[in-house]
Amino acid sequence: MRVTVLVSGGGSNLQALLDAQDAGRLGTATITAVIASRAGVYALERAEKHGVPTAVVSRGDYENADAWAAALTDAIERTAPDLVVLAGYLSILPAQIVTRFTIINIHPALIPAFCGAGMYGLRPHVAALARGVKVTGATVHYVNEIPDGGEILAQKAVDVHPDDTPETLQRRVMEEAEWVLLPSAVAQLSMNNVQ
Ligand code: GAR
Repeated sequence: MRVTVLVSGGGSNLQALLDAQDAGRLGTATITAVIASRAGVYALERAEKHGVPTAVVSRGDYENADAWAAALTDAIERTAPDLVVLAGYLSILPAQIVTRFTIINIHPALIPAFCGAGMYGLRPHVAALARGVKVTGATVHYVNEIPDGGEILAQKAVDVHPDDTPETLQRRVMEEAEWVLLPSAVAQLSMNNVQ
């Protein structure tokens, strides 16, 4: 199963996928391409170190949303993916992409809590602490036209500690939930794919 990973930042979730692949824990899936939403992000370095081909499709390089969407569609199409994984990809994908490929996303909260447009990166953790929840976590879900609205594939809960800051909570959610959940969801889908 060919997997194209879309990234926007540090790429720790991409790293978890690459490590799982190296350890034989990614089922029949292979990370065959990484596409970033901007140049210079550390995720690109992680991909290059691993010998995975990369591309950058940056919204700012295109005149309008349609031109960007067409370029991103072409870039993904060229990688011929069976599955597209959003691993910290922070742009909302246009309908033409969402309907064309099978896409999953990792979200750093227990959907339907702390999700939707504008809830990305540190923000779900800021919101979780502000609301005073005692448990949060991460969700892997299919991507459809509603931000964070697609079918849920897997979730993992993580305790909130009384002295948590958004940063400490983000780190614990990554370590205990995201880096485990995303590779295991990809492995599971690859096994379904070959049956
Ligand atoms: C991760 O916490 C991921 O769940 C989140 O961004 C971070 C990216 O980190 N994604 C979203 O908020 C999507 N709505 P990474 O670049 O180190 O994987």
